[in-house]
Amino acid sequence: MGCDDPGGYPLGRSLATAAPVRVDPFDTAHHANANIAVLAASGQGKSYTLGAIVLAAAARGRGSAVIDPEGEHESLISALGGDFLRLAPGCGTALNVFETGALDEGEPARRAEVVAAVVDLVNVLCGGTLDDVERAHVDAAATGALTRVRGRRRPALLGDCLEPLRAATPRVATVLARFCTGPLGELFNRPTTLRLDAPVAGISLRDLHDELVPAATLLVAEWLWSLVRKDRMQRHLVFDEVGLLCAHPPLRRLLTQLARRCRKYGVSLVVATQNAGDLLATEEGTVVATNPAIVLLGGHRSAETSRMQGAYGLTDGQRRMLESAARGEFLVLAGDRRLPVRVELPALHHALLAGG
Ligand SMILES: Nc1ncnc2c1ncn2[C@@H]1O[C@H](COP(=O)(O)OP(=O)(O)O)[C@@H](O)[C@H]1O
Ligand SMILES: [Mg+2]
Repeated sequence: MGCDDPGGYPLGRSLATAAPVRVDPFDTAHHANANIAVLAASGQGKSYTLGAIVLAAAARGRGSAVIDPEGEHESLISALGGDFLRLAPGCGTALNVFETGALDEGEPARRAEVVAAVVDLVNVLCGGTLDDVERAHVDAAATGALTRVRGRRRPALLGDCLEPLRAATPRVATVLARFCTGPLGELFNRPTTLRLDAPVAGISLRDLHDELVPAATLLVAEWLWSLVRKDRMQRHLVFDEVGLLCAHPPLRRLLTQLARRCRKYGVSLVVATQNAGDLLATEEGTVVATNPAIVLLGGHRSAETSRMQGAYGLTDGQRRMLESAARGEFLVLAGDRRLPVRVELPALHHALLAGG
């Protein structure tokens, strides 16, 4: 079976016939949504393939926002004239959780979304340990903060939740206080300065301490979700190495929501992970892995392929192919089409992706 969508993104060649393979994620005749998942072991060419998607999209006037945990995509994004930001405490950028949420939704809906985002963030900052009572206290503190800043010139900030939490739940207040002062406060407790509105944009999390990555990803993802609901351009939201993030329930929920809802806004969620087994181990992770109309499955060890066989209904032959796939070889599932593909780009494009 071939796969050659007119105007589609050139991915490479069929391993069986050497015919060119082109896939158009936004072609609704073939694909129920424009989402893409790339699952393969480390070093198999996932980030390279994401780069190929960003490049092909840019050539068709479509945007991409790349959340880049390893800071690998900078040279590509710069070559495309995009904005690239290295996020870290002291980098000058601030992410204010109170400024996420869809601005065009009514006031009560927006308040509810922002308060939910604050509860999620504080939960992630507390290592996912908030119990129901603590969540209720954070909810009340965030609601109070929103009420108090009404009519003022500044947005509510995380620090506005501190005083009420000190009385109600000192444990949470102690953790939160760390993120409200010093370099961490500059990152989390100031009005948002994040600007990634360029059609092609990337944000590197490489310079962030590991413990800050989930919280920062949550805020960046919330911010991007607000952006795509505002500006309605065809765009890929690209999350490289998403598997580890999915260990955090709020991030898993957000990604699941993005996977399910982004089609309405002309947006495509693109995820890559080397932890396919971890992703498929939870119900929400399974949505993130199996909802995409386009899936590229690359080389894996057999422990992982048994889970993938069930999730994607692979034949024994397809499963064996994954266990012996070389770097750059993927089984492509695109709508109801399935074929083994070697991801291969013209020399100029290869130089852009491999040079980074
Ligand atoms: N299809 C491909 N053709 C040529 N080189 C590739 C291809 N895929 C990956 N590479 C190269 O192999 C290395 C590992 O690829 P990478 O995309 O970083 O793997 P992963 O993200 O799966 O860990 C990189 O140096 C990359 O440039
Ligand atoms: Mg990678």
